Amino acid sequence: MTAIVHLVLAVWASSVLGQECGPVAFPITDVRTDLAAANSFMRGIPAKIGTPPQDIVMLPWAELNNTYIYDEQSDCDPSIIFNEQICKVRRGGYFIETDSTSFSKTSDLISAGGASQEITTTGTEIGVKRLISTSLAGRDRLDVGSGFVNIPLGIPRLRWDNGYTTLHALGLGSNSTYLNALVQAGQIPSRVWSLFWGRMWTDFDAMDGSLVLGGYDREKVIGRNFTQPLDYSEETGCWTGMKVTVNSLLVNFRNGSDFSIMPRNSAVQCCIVPQRQLLWEAPSGIVDAFEAATQMKNIGFSFGLHWSARLYNSSFFDGELSFLLSNGLQVRVPNSQFLTPFVDVARNGSRVVDRSKRELLMNGLADQPATLGRYFFTSAYLMVDHDAKTFTMWQANPSVKSSLVAVSKGGCGGTAGGTGTAANPPSTGTGSSSQETPSNTGAIAGGVVGGVAVLAIIAAVFLIRRRRNRDPPVSTEGASDSPEVYHKPQYLPPQEIHGTNMYHHGGKPVELRADNELQPPQYIHSGKRDSRRTVHELDGGRF
Ligand SMILES: *[C@@H]1O[C@H](CO)[C@@H](O)[C@H](O)[C@H]1NC(C)=O
Ligand SMILES: *[C@@H]1O[C@H](CO)[C@@H](O)[C@H](O)[C@H]1NC(C)=O
Ligand SMILES: *[C@@H]1O[C@H](CO)[C@@H](O)[C@H](O)[C@H]1NC(C)=O
Ligand SMILES: *[C@@H]1O[C@H](CO)[C@@H](O)[C@H](O)[C@H]1NC(C)=O
Ligand SMILES: *[C@@H]1O[C@H](CO)[C@@H](O)[C@H](O)[C@H]1NC(C)=O
Ligand SMILES: *[C@@H]1O[C@H](CO)[C@@H](O)[C@H](O)[C@H]1NC(C)=O
Repeated sequence: MTAIVHLVLAVWASSVLGQECGPVAFPITDVRTDLAAANSFMRGIPAKIGTPPQDIVMLPWAELNNTYIYDEQSDCDPSIIFNEQICKVRRGGYFIETDSTSFSKTSDLISAGGASQEITTTGTEIGVKRLISTSLAGRDRLDVGSGFVNIPLGIPRLRWDNGYTTLHALGLGSNSTYLNALVQAGQIPSRVWSLFWGRMWTDFDAMDGSLVLGGYDREKVIGRNFTQPLDYSEETGCWTGMKVTVNSLLVNFRNGSDFSIMPRNSAVQCCIVPQRQLLWEAPSGIVDAFEAATQMKNIGFSFGLHWSARLYNSSFFDGELSFLLSNGLQVRVPNSQFLTPFVDVARNGSRVVDRSKRELLMNGLADQPATLGRYFFTSAYLMVDHDAKTFTMWQANPSVKSSLVAVSKGGCGGTAGGTGTAANPPSTGTGSSSQETPSNTGAIAGGVVGGVAVLAIIAAVFLIRRRRNRDPPVSTEGASDSPEVYHKPQYLPPQEIHGTNMYHHGGKPVELRADNELQPPQYIHSGKRDSRRTVHELDGGRF
């Protein structure tokens, strides 16, 4: 019966309204996370959770199956995040589950309907092995931008992550409970997601990124696609399933000459990890070669938002970087997206930008797996298709225009058969998915529409009510809207900001990855944090 209602909903919505089931796009944008703290911006996806809805900021997470939401007890690593205020901002606000009337606690994540496995390949975050078994669990409604769905949630009680990917984690892994729920609810046609990170820290071409579910954005890609199978096997050593090989890295000087900084026969296998905070975590020899080619001399490492980047205070390189992948894809990254200003969240919660310094968004690795991180997707476009078990990349077209294309094997509601890719006729819009009409529901409609008129009326009532209940969108303030955020160099000598060095000469930030030792038991805590409770009462726990 439920299945029939879902089917009817999907058919009715798409054939009568022509709008409800199809790909949806959400902005990846600067969101102010704490109304009590000026400039407390984090870049992510604004979302609502619980009843009444609480505002949080989420980061799409490529390998997690479950979605993990932080409450006031989800603490931050004090070696990277120096106080509670910074933690609250960098977490993207806290979800206070006790304030949500729709939160239902369960004994564990699996009994909440969560996925029973997360991948634990070497290179993933250190605590992921015990995340399912140690998290507080329950179900609540979550609206990332396409309406509320009720999904299982883990609320970490283990300090499992690194200090630089702290936002609420929207799990988009191979058995993603969020994608599964949207497909079952007939909101999207397939378990496909696509990502463009946008452009940051620049005045002239800053733009929001976009996450598309159920398809991709044709406006944001250029040329042919490069498609490979998703491979999660231990042997590949790539926990997101997306392994590529960088054959060559070219330094593109302003005078037009290009210089290859990778020796012949030194191709680097990389795991694509779009949530990571840099462009490339690469063997340190390559980062050294970049410095030699550009004659830049670092003054240490960044302990800010681009944690572990190399830091410079003079003689900034003004050219670009080109990646040549073994599959044929070429990606040219503009200067502004790999030599960014120094950025951090100050103790008072404000995001501060110091333009007198630059961070090279490449981190020299010793023996950890190399990764291509979020800044790669300022210049490349990624699509992950869990139904077809493939991932696809294009050269990105950095554009605020949007034209969504459904990618689907079956149809909405997950009930139709058939194969192949359904593409919509091109349409140019402003990022609103509601202009897209899936092309693959007609056949289903023909078969069932006659017998379901009554159910369709029920569905209509349901949909109208759902729309009425929907809250107005979170107000976001993007980089381009508030340039003053980027124009106030706020750099203080390291000891005044952190009480310790912000960057180390010769020192190196410690990696907390699964190839290190498991965390000591004191990282798991269950104690009450009275100071956090006070903060919550001051501002209602929301923005
Ligand atoms: C995916 O997770 C669900 C629980 O959300 C579980 O029932 C199902 O067996 C999992 N699928 C696979 C292929 O393991
Ligand atoms: C997600 O769930 C599937 C099915 O349970 C499991 O095989 C996989 O290891 C999990 N994680 C990833 C990244 O695939
Ligand atoms: C990628 O390219 C192939 C071959 O040109 C084409 O058949 C396929 O539809 C393309 N995929 C997408 C998602 O555009
Ligand atoms: C361009 O600039 C680079 C770096 O300064 C230099 O090595 C190279 O010779 C220049 N090429 C030309 C054609 O001037
Ligand atoms: C850059 O940093 C070095 C070492 O910390 C310092 O000696 C130098 O004066 C700084 N240069 C500028 C332009 O700030
Ligand atoms: C927050 O701290 C930064 C850096 O110390 C400072 O520049 C800024 O003015 C402070 N903001 C407020 C609102 O106090």
